[in-house]
Amino acid sequence: MKGKQTDHIKRVYHSIEEMLSSEDNPTPIVQLNRVVPYKQTKLYAKLEWYNPFGSLKDRIGANLLTDAEEKGLMDKVNQLVEPTSGNTGFALAMLANAKGYSLKATLSSMIPIEKRTLLRFFGCDVLEIEDTLCPAPGAPEGAIALAIETAQKPDFHMLNQYSNQANPNAHYKTTGPEVWKQTEQKITHFVAALGTCGTLTGTGTFLKEKNSSIKLIGVHPEEGHDIPGVRSIIQLQQTKLFRPELYDQLIEVSNREAFDLCLRINREESIIAGPSSGLALAGAIKVIQDREDAVVVVIFPDNAFKYASSFQRHFPEMFENMVGSPTQSDIKNEKEELFDKMIELCRNDLNTIDLNEAYNIKSKTNPIFIDVRSSDQYSATHIVDAINIPINNLLLGNYKLTKDKDYPIITVCNVGNQSIEGLLILKSLGYSNVKSLNGGTTGWILKGFPIVKK
Ligand SMILES: Cc1ncc(COP(=O)(O)O)c(C=O)c1O
Repeated sequence: MKGKQTDHIKRVYHSIEEMLSSEDNPTPIVQLNRVVPYKQTKLYAKLEWYNPFGSLKDRIGANLLTDAEEKGLMDKVNQLVEPTSGNTGFALAMLANAKGYSLKATLSSMIPIEKRTLLRFFGCDVLEIEDTLCPAPGAPEGAIALAIETAQKPDFHMLNQYSNQANPNAHYKTTGPEVWKQTEQKITHFVAALGTCGTLTGTGTFLKEKNSSIKLIGVHPEEGHDIPGVRSIIQLQQTKLFRPELYDQLIEVSNREAFDLCLRINREESIIAGPSSGLALAGAIKVIQDREDAVVVVIFPDNAFKYASSFQRHFPEMFENMVGSPTQSDIKNEKEELFDKMIELCRNDLNTIDLNEAYNIKSKTNPIFIDVRSSDQYSATHIVDAINIPINNLLLGNYKLTKDKDYPIITVCNVGNQSIEGLLILKSLGYSNVKSLNGGTTGWILKGFPIVKK
């Protein structure tokens, strides 16, 4: 086979990278017939999981990496670090495997377990941190800050999907020409869910150049959503690739609407779409009228298989007779709720200490600072003199602290959530003078107080 041309008609490829989509090798578009309210408007879903690593992010993974190589940015490094909610991580992990690099991904532990498991299975070094679902660029805490910090080391490079022009350019070069050709230049509306905004900005720029009357519709979730990969309107303000002046309309869709439509797409259209496909389609249906000449393309970013835990959470009634769930997880949820309430009750002056006060008493009463984060996070950066007892070890109680149960102790984590759990454990063990540090290591660093850095 070697030396032969790739045959897209026969679908014969000589390496997995050749399968990446392009105008000659597009991901399919398929017309929806049952869940759309239209008699005339033709609405097509573009099935992005037909990319080799399973999502629309394969396009940008490949372009970000090639762009960095062409600029000589990979000449002296062979490690990549990237904050990712999963799909960019899958693409980069696999491309790194193919090209001989390694990948470290920083991400929130609220990302579905399926994605965090698969990243590890693909060979990625995963660094999980307490964070909101989708890390907000520019926020001091979180996956992005940690990736930026790691990228300062000489042997790492961060491609930065949140600000790198190679992200929208990937869609300008591939997704745009594909839909233009697939619809025989008849496309009237292009609809995408907004995450980094690379898809809508890149594809949209291409399409507007071809025909400025094509409407670009960006769909975003409500605040407090739990759909990985997409961003609420507040989260979007911080994304450098968000270009509202280019888009014709932004529309919000609720969690419920997105998941309900996702279910219908699977059951009624027999399309194995994931939650952000439900979100994008719900937005499209809200704003696009039934019209004779309307030809709509909606991006379906990835498939349902990574989201089993999300479906269990959103459709508990569906799993009532399934062993292990949801009866058990309902009980677990009740317990989790109780635990969360206890944590909230602890957030008061009796149990927490602010950054300035902690700094001031450090030299006076010499409290023991216990950093309850993982040893990886601790060794990356920690407060001077803090000792590391990860939360699970703290629970085991197999360590020596101080015989004096009234000695002052301050528990520390990233921002001050897990440190409250540490406080509860220590108090249960009889330590009476424990406080949790509000603002955590991140706040300490921002104040310019002394730290130890790897
Ligand atoms: C599942 C999913 N849907 C939608 C998006 C949004 O795409 P974009 O980042 O190009 O705006 C992403 C991005 O990560 C995603 O992973």
